[in-house]
Amino acid sequence: MSGRGKFISLEGGEGVGKSTQVKALAAALRQRGIALVETREPGGSDGAEKIRELLLTGDDGRWSARAEALLFAAARADHAEKTIRPAIEAGTWVLCDRFVDSSLAYQGGALDLGIAEVRAVNQFAIGELFPDRTLVLALAEGGARARARDNEDSDRIGGRPAGYHQRVDLAFRQIAAEEPGRVRIVDASGSPDEVTRRLLDQLEDLLP
Ligand code: TMP
Repeated sequence: MSGRGKFISLEGGEGVGKSTQVKALAAALRQRGIALVETREPGGSDGAEKIRELLLTGDDGRWSARAEALLFAAARADHAEKTIRPAIEAGTWVLCDRFVDSSLAYQGGALDLGIAEVRAVNQFAIGELFPDRTLVLALAEGGARARARDNEDSDRIGGRPAGYHQRVDLAFRQIAAEEPGRVRIVDASGSPDEVTRRLLDQLEDLLP
């Protein structure tokens, strides 16, 4: 098969079952005969995995908001260049556990840097390499808040207070409203199989 592979990202706040769904969606796509690379952020290339360590460990105040946004963007630039672009240019699909929309929501929306400002920094990092489709797993507000609060093995960012995670959820909804073609909110309630089916429904027009 010739042509570029599709680039799909999976997003969502804490505790919405994203890791389970990345695996399930990858398996479902492979079953349809699609050659697929699974990757994640922050990380996904040697350099970006090193930056991940800097971003997710230590005190909450370890980085200023701007430094944090720039570190995510630096990791993303390396990941895009070393892993994502070569794969899609070779005709392989890429399924990424978080990508640029996490920065728009967690740093732009929830840290008050502004979604547009963080988008500009990321455009410098990745050029036009935005996903063909971004699926945002979401639970009703109360559920998402409780999961964030009860998340015991949180990292530096996951462990931020419930109000922060509420702003993350709101920002994801705002991004989806602004870019309805690319970004889709998917209900994360119900059984894992049901959720995987909803995700696949949102990819229908991209499937071969
Ligand atoms: P994970 O829990 O999906 O591995 O993600 C790690 C944490 O990093 C999670 O709390 C979300 C956060 N994050 C950002 O704040 N901005 C970003 O751009 C990315 C990719 C992740």
